[in-house]
Amino acid sequence: MTVYFIGAGPGAADLITLRGARLLERCGVCLYAGSLVPAELLELCPDGAKLVDTARLNLDQITAELVAAHAAGQDVARLHSGDPSVFSAMAEQMRRLDAAGVPYQVVPGVPAFAAAAAALGRELTVPTVGQTVILTRIAQQATPMPPGEDLATLGRSRALLVLHLAARYVDRVVEELLPHYGADCPAAVVALASRPDELVLRGTLADIADQVKAAGVLRTAVIMVGRTLAADQFQDSHLYSCDRDRSVQP
Ligand SMILES: C[S@@+](CC[C@H](N)C(=O)[O-])C[C@H]1O[C@@H](n2cnc3c(N)ncnc32)[C@H](O)[C@@H]1O
Repeated sequence: MTVYFIGAGPGAADLITLRGARLLERCGVCLYAGSLVPAELLELCPDGAKLVDTARLNLDQITAELVAAHAAGQDVARLHSGDPSVFSAMAEQMRRLDAAGVPYQVVPGVPAFAAAAAALGRELTVPTVGQTVILTRIAQQATPMPPGEDLATLGRSRALLVLHLAARYVDRVVEELLPHYGADCPAAVVALASRPDELVLRGTLADIADQVKAAGVLRTAVIMVGRTLAADQFQDSHLYSCDRDRSVQP
């Protein structure tokens, strides 16, 4: 039997993929991160399915649930918020499943940064202004950043930065980015993107920290910093250019 790591999307239940929803409908066991995965999604699980909130489980306990389901001949839907390819702790579960000889597959989902960009009504890559998006977080005691991935180093690129797990440290983010991006650089924070209580804050590096604190945003938010957030003077892309020869298909 198979463990399916499924991206549940950023919070709105209808932002899971069709593939993910169909798997949920047929897996006899579902493990989900209760703090971020929308409860409505669990209603898709078949009657009698075993539902396990992983919020209070450690890695050994989660692995034990996955291995036990496999031994009992059950497929498992392992729901992760957003897309499991970033900040999901999927890698360590895969390593345990490899060791236990349990097969798995990954079903992608809509990541928080994409839902935040949608809430802002922005394309994050704009010709001549910014063609690079860096998905990152900031160092915390439990999770130090690898060498060369600190904000000051990443900030030298002046690429659009999307910071996860960072809202409560917004002062530190601003302090480290100011020398590279400048006080007038556009910044935005989207909390609870795609949910009914979504909150969008727009400003600059000069005022975004005050806005975040005034709104009381501490978690489930991404901070975005970069010039593309307010770009309006840019070249049209080559993709739809009138000058492009469309008689030859690539
Ligand atoms: C453990 S990470 C999970 C990221 C997830 N795998 C993804 O693809 O977006 C949790 C962090 O993602 C961000 N996040 C998750 N859901 C969000 C949402 N609906 N709106 C804004 N940020 C969100 C926040 O920074 C939160 O602290």
